[in-house]
Amino acid sequence: MPVHTIEWVADGSDTLVPGRIRLVDQTKLPGELVFVETCDPQEVWTAIKTLQVRGAPAIGVAAAMGVVAGIQGSNAATGAALAEEAAGVAKRLATSRPTAVNLFWALDRMTGVAKANAGLAPAELKERLAQEAVKVHDEDVAMCRAIGEHGATLLRAGQTVLTHCNAGGLATALYGTALAPIYVAQEKGVKVSVFADETRPLLQGARLTAWELMQAGVDVTLICDNMAAQVMKEGRIDLVMVGADRIAANGDTANKIGTYGVALLAQAHKIPFYVLAPTSTFDMSLGSGEEIPIEKRASEEVTCGFGKATAPEGVQVYSPAFDVTPAALITAIICEHGIARPPFAESLRRCHAMV
Ligand code: MRU
Repeated sequence: MPVHTIEWVADGSDTLVPGRIRLVDQTKLPGELVFVETCDPQEVWTAIKTLQVRGAPAIGVAAAMGVVAGIQGSNAATGAALAEEAAGVAKRLATSRPTAVNLFWALDRMTGVAKANAGLAPAELKERLAQEAVKVHDEDVAMCRAIGEHGATLLRAGQTVLTHCNAGGLATALYGTALAPIYVAQEKGVKVSVFADETRPLLQGARLTAWELMQAGVDVTLICDNMAAQVMKEGRIDLVMVGADRIAANGDTANKIGTYGVALLAQAHKIPFYVLAPTSTFDMSLGSGEEIPIEKRASEEVTCGFGKATAPEGVQVYSPAFDVTPAALITAIICEHGIARPPFAESLRRCHAMV
């Protein structure tokens, strides 16, 4: 793998706290590979909001580590008081982005651990929370690896996968979700090619997916989003693999804006459409995708992306950052427990029960 997206770096060698978060600043790619180090929870909030760290699983890891960053310098006299502070930090981090459920999943996990261990002395509780954040990271690596193993069984040598946005190593702790099967297949000597949608407006496909696949020596071809239909019609795509930001109990899947369109195109061209995500992206509390909150982003990302005006000043803009692909368009959902097929209400429940 080319790069570790996010890590907890302890200052000393005996304990995890004090320490800091080290993450790739994804806004600087592909031009520069720059790492940001921070132990300030407000900077973590900004890093999530501005997409320095992005991709649902990586956001979850950043949030978990952000809670530790927020309490490690606390002077709380008791574990209970420290647990309260952790809840406050989590509440603030929860306002950074609304769609990726991994953010809330990780924050709930951290506040749950804080509450359950409120009887510890503050120093012990700080260390316990740091251990949990590192566990969130390490589990994400393992889940993505397992997704890669399961997903690789769907790939044959010489096939071409279309992907949208970046659901690669950069979007997770390692390996990625949609790209994990490609890396695993490559390790096993099975060569597959990738077509990457550029992914307007913030170009995660062009800037990040193309970059990380090239770093890994995978054959990748970049296309503009509006080229996908033609590329499918020309018979260049064997299957579609995308990630997810939130999957409802019925299989409806929120992912980067444009994914729904790709799913419709795949159906029209009889191409299998796969969603790959860890169970930390499942939201079993939502009956359908109708209930998934969709983030709206600033108009400048559309009119003046990367500093160049591409639309008249003052034009009205509507910019949802995600869309919801109905379960009916999804061939299978691959998680760390295996390949879930329709009816998803049943197969996702089975996968989720294994957690
Ligand atoms: O706005 P982003 O870049 O955070 O959106 C990311 C995506 O939509 C990814 O496809 C999704 O989070 C899955 S990442 C494994």
